[in-house]
Amino acid sequence: MRFDGHHHAVLEHSISLTEDYARELPERFGVLIEGGAFPSDQYVISSQIAWHGYDPAQGIHRINPRSGESHIRTDDITSYLEEHGQRIALVLLGGVNYYTGQFFEIEPITEAAHRNGSLVGVDLAHAAGNVPLLLHDWNVDFSVWCSYKYLNAGPGGPGSIFVHERHGRSFDLPRLSGWWGHDKETRFQMPDDFKPMQGAEGWQLSNPPILSMAALRASLDVFDRAGLGKLQTKSRRLTLFLEYLLGEKCPDISIMTPSDPSQRGAQLSLRIPGGRDVFDRLSARGVSTDWREPDVIRAAPVPLYNTFEDVFHFVEILFLALDR
Ligand SMILES: Cc1ncc(COP(=O)(O)O)c(C=O)c1O
Repeated sequence: MRFDGHHHAVLEHSISLTEDYARELPERFGVLIEGGAFPSDQYVISSQIAWHGYDPAQGIHRINPRSGESHIRTDDITSYLEEHGQRIALVLLGGVNYYTGQFFEIEPITEAAHRNGSLVGVDLAHAAGNVPLLLHDWNVDFSVWCSYKYLNAGPGGPGSIFVHERHGRSFDLPRLSGWWGHDKETRFQMPDDFKPMQGAEGWQLSNPPILSMAALRASLDVFDRAGLGKLQTKSRRLTLFLEYLLGEKCPDISIMTPSDPSQRGAQLSLRIPGGRDVFDRLSARGVSTDWREPDVIRAAPVPLYNTFEDVFHFVEILFLALDR
């Protein structure tokens, strides 16, 4: 389902969720996010909390890695929910954190959130097309993602939304309504009153960009032809191979991303103090990685178009780039 940029979706749901809770339970206006969440998510949450008349400083609950650790323990999230859940309306996590590459254990986190009365949304910008996602089975309430990363639709490609089917017919949920979410049968009668379609379609705002949809469609066809299962098997092997070679050839580099393959996708975030020069040397030699302040190079061997040979060459080039 398409939105004008996928954060509209988070925005809308935050509105409906916080409003529902705020009416019944005024102290439940908090949103729990991972420390170091992508800025858009942080801005959406703080502006929503402020818009609803609360103080973002009190409403945002950030969970950070323990001191000396680089990613967040699932237990720290679930025990925070057990302790403070009554103040939290929504848990909003990046499915895969853009900076560390941590793939959160969404199912147990969702269970703990629901047990304590909070809803769960996940931003899958770095997860869609990268890791296995069983949103329905994991019982996630809603999710949004863009299609311009692993899904290859190109910048500005359409955003998407998942709404769990238990909310799909909750027509009285407050929402920001647009004509494209109106019941298809009567949309062109241009009625004054909004009648949402059931399911995620009822959250659409306006008609979709056809050229971007065509690019996304072509990419999804390639995914279908390759097969998600095969891509995931290759992805795990490629990333393990990268991790292994880094350990052999560049043992001083610390990897922020969890070493447990079930808690990451293709990406490894490499912490390299003074690494900006290293990144520039890699770029000059035709290697596409990504630089994040203050000291992180993100490297993602993508199974659809990267080979084991690419990974081998990458580590050789990185070794030289470190040495200079
Ligand atoms: C987790 C996450 N959310 C959102 C975005 C931004 O997406 P958009 O430009 O569609 O708002 C990014 C971009 O990198 C991201 O990593």
